[in-house]
Amino acid sequence: MQPNAKPEVRVLDSAENAVPVLLDELRNVIAAESRPLVSFATGVTFTAFFRSLDVELKSGGIDVGSWVGTHLDEYIAFEPNRRGGMVHELTLRCPALREMLARGSFLPVPCHGAAGSLRAHEERMKRAGGVKLQFLGIGRNGHVAFNEPGALIDSGFHVTTLAESTRRDAAPTFVPDEPPRRAVTAGLQSILGAERIVLCAFGSDKADAVRAMLHGESSERCPASALRDHPNALVLLDPAAASSLDAPASAAS
Ligand code: GLP
Repeated sequence: MQPNAKPEVRVLDSAENAVPVLLDELRNVIAAESRPLVSFATGVTFTAFFRSLDVELKSGGIDVGSWVGTHLDEYIAFEPNRRGGMVHELTLRCPALREMLARGSFLPVPCHGAAGSLRAHEERMKRAGGVKLQFLGIGRNGHVAFNEPGALIDSGFHVTTLAESTRRDAAPTFVPDEPPRRAVTAGLQSILGAERIVLCAFGSDKADAVRAMLHGESSERCPASALRDHPNALVLLDPAAASSLDAPASAAS
């Protein structure tokens, strides 16, 4: 790791070993704060975590009423119950989140992108105390949420057009239909406003993006490189995702 790379980087023996770490992150913020706002990324990176979170929420291991949830992004016109949408994917993997959605303690990203609805969403998040814990994935091209290369650092929630590589990666979820072209996303400024960020990247497909994020030029070309300016970020990698780093951190279990 280069000396100027600020995030703490942990290379785990395997992606599965991230699940207890992520659950502990959630437990810690719930213990430290009164009803903290926690924001999720979707994507396959977090599938195992969401399955375990579902077990915890259903068994009472983590109290459904002790925190507020939200997420980063949504495809345009994908209401929470529409197949392929982010909330739909989240609640498929973690059905217990449906109860939070019904109670109003899970704040869905407004999917139509009207400016007023996005400002109202930001206000709601502010009233909920702002994001205390942000889970993040990373795209193969270095995107975070749907901030594609070139995204502005000072952006709040906004409507964006997806990169072709992002659409290709999302395509299997939408077969036989075409993947969406546009989405609402938290901007980089919104993401960096979280008190703590935990980014996960697993698999060799992510190795180049991880290298660019931690060792490349910190610029709009790699939106994830903005994380290097965050004072409280943790990056969890499996050995394959860490394979292009200059000096991989020693393995932790
Ligand atoms: C998607 C989402 C991100 C996600 C990322 C990685 O396009 N907008 O929130 O973290 O790409 O997805 P995956 O975990 O499926 O690789």
